[in-house]
Amino acid sequence: MHLTRPVALITGGASGIGLAFARRWIADGGLAVLADLDPARLDEAVDGLEPLRSRGVVCDVTNQESVDAAVADVAGAEGRIDAVFTSAGIARPQPSDRITDDAFALLLDIHVTGAMRVCRAAYPLLRERRGAIVNVASVAAFAGMPGRASYTAAKAAVGGLTRTLAVEWGPHGVRVNAIAPGYVRTALTDALVADGRLNAAPILDRTPLGRFGSPEEIAEAAHFLATPASSFVTGHTLVADGGLTVGGDWY
Ligand SMILES: NC(=O)c1ccc[n+]([C@@H]2O[C@H](COP(=O)([O-])OP(=O)(O)OC[C@H]3O[C@@H](n4cnc5c(N)ncnc54)[C@H](O)[C@@H]3O)[C@@H](O)[C@H]2O)c1
Repeated sequence: MHLTRPVALITGGASGIGLAFARRWIADGGLAVLADLDPARLDEAVDGLEPLRSRGVVCDVTNQESVDAAVADVAGAEGRIDAVFTSAGIARPQPSDRITDDAFALLLDIHVTGAMRVCRAAYPLLRERRGAIVNVASVAAFAGMPGRASYTAAKAAVGGLTRTLAVEWGPHGVRVNAIAPGYVRTALTDALVADGRLNAAPILDRTPLGRFGSPEEIAEAAHFLATPASSFVTGHTLVADGGLTVGGDWY
């Protein structure tokens, strides 16, 4: 039964935006393979989704063998990948004058090289299906943000990676786009707000829609990019931020 359904491979799929994307993909008739670090959290995520329409695969995007094994697992079990959603990510705000090379490199490894590892490994299967990739960037790709040198550099690089893969793989029928969420309530942002490293008030003041987004709203926009609904869109980074980056509150 699974082989007849479109399959999405979703890194960071056990939580937040990745999990919301899985829910959206399943609602449209697809099968979601959630790729994430922790087997218990994967089981919990799968338990919360429609039965028989998702499964978890343990995968660390910083490790090529782990990524290759996850993709091989999907190749063996489902035999197809129609969409890849690279949502694995962390945030570690630190002052730029004190950040170590290792700490700086970690965010690039997860967000940029991690996305590259997954896209590269999944490409042969995506090509067979003329499938689509949606990488997860951020409004941090376009703004300077104090204490976020590694995160903003990584997210800006996700845009570059997306554009280049789109140019290389478009002739083979694979579209590559990115979604750039503004502030969204998930475990990632809740943790930052809770320990005082993210101050919600000025963000809400600057956001024309006056609120944080939901993971479901990001998943809806990403789903558009992941499906033939966006069949002539490639190399694009779609901003879904409640108007935060167009701002205008300074005028
Ligand atoms: N929440 C926001 O406001 C927001 C805004 C812009 C961009 N983003 C981006 O969206 C993506 C998802 O964030 P979220 O808010 O859903 O966070 P989240 O913490 O809810 O989910 C992130 C998931 O990624 C997984 N992960 C982390 N490192 C991994 C690794 N090495 N290999 C595999 N999985 C790994 C985590 O285990 C977790 O399940 C991230 O790339 C984040 O930078 C989030």
